[in-house]
Amino acid sequence: MAEGMLKGKKGIIFGALDERSIAWRVALAAHREGAQCVLTNAPIALRLGTLNALSEEINAPIIPCDVTDQEAIADLFAKTKDHFGTIDFILHAVGMSPNVRKGKAYTDLNYTWVHQTLDISALSLHRVLQQATQDEMLNNGASVVALSYIGAQRIFSKYSDMNDAKALLESIARNFGSRLGSKGIRVNTVSQGPTKTSAGTGIKGFDGMFTFAEKMAPLGNPSADDCADYCMTLFSDYTRMVTMQNLYHDGGFATSGISEELVEALEKAFAEESGEAANSGEGG
Ligand SMILES: NC(=O)c1ccc[n+]([C@@H]2O[C@H](COP(=O)([O-])OP(=O)(O)OC[C@H]3O[C@@H](n4cnc5c(N)ncnc54)[C@H](O)[C@@H]3O)[C@@H](O)[C@H]2O)c1
Repeated sequence: MAEGMLKGKKGIIFGALDERSIAWRVALAAHREGAQCVLTNAPIALRLGTLNALSEEINAPIIPCDVTDQEAIADLFAKTKDHFGTIDFILHAVGMSPNVRKGKAYTDLNYTWVHQTLDISALSLHRVLQQATQDEMLNNGASVVALSYIGAQRIFSKYSDMNDAKALLESIARNFGSRLGSKGIRVNTVSQGPTKTSAGTGIKGFDGMFTFAEKMAPLGNPSADDCADYCMTLFSDYTRMVTMQNLYHDGGFATSGISEELVEALEKAFAEESGEAANSGEGG
């Protein structure tokens, strides 16, 4: 693969927590492709100190920002401008639901937590783009990518209120995309397949969903590094006419009905189950 696709570009990466984070892998790829980055995360996440290693490796400053705090976003942009001026790309890789973390079912949501879910995981994209527009932070031709999940379109029960948050996130991306197009600024969401990160594995039943998607998708599940490579194309000038899209990066999962492997496994499992039921019936 050619390197240097983002030569001369500058961007802000939200959401790198540890080296499994999709944002972490995106930051490494952006550095490899010749971009300069600012890294940001919530102050509470920065207390872990893990981001320092990435900061040193790619020579990128860390500027704290809780995405639910408008002043913090304004401060992030002001400090970024001081550091290297206006920017060419943003990665929004932020998501959190207290309801999902605590295993709350969709029919038993805590509404205070729903507000937090929506604020952190979806409205934050609006906050960031509104502030960026007002501060004239984005260069003409800039590219904004937010990470989404197919729960926005289809129901994944354990994903609870995050299904709603991702639907709102994708809608905000479309709405801002329509308003920023006159400056050649693109706004897209990438709908990533299940990935073993801190946020991913925090979902109850994640292993089952991961295996199901792995066996369903013709190409299998994409890794965080695969997602990072895809984001490089979206930050590059090669995709300058792509905007307001939700782009599936899931190995083909979104358009698959079922795979041969799953049909065979299910047939076997159901045959065993009915055999067991018949046996226990005989025994009774
Ligand atoms: N892992 C998956 O299976 C998967 C699949 C599709 C989409 N995604 C999405 O990818 C994105 C990145 O998640 P990840 O899987 O890399 O997990 P991750 O846990 O590494 O990243 C989530 C990040 O959100 C940050 N965050 C939470 N609250 C914040 C706040 N108030 N202010 C600023 N930052 C805050 C966390 O500190 C963390 O860095 C999320 O939007 C997630 O929903 C993940």
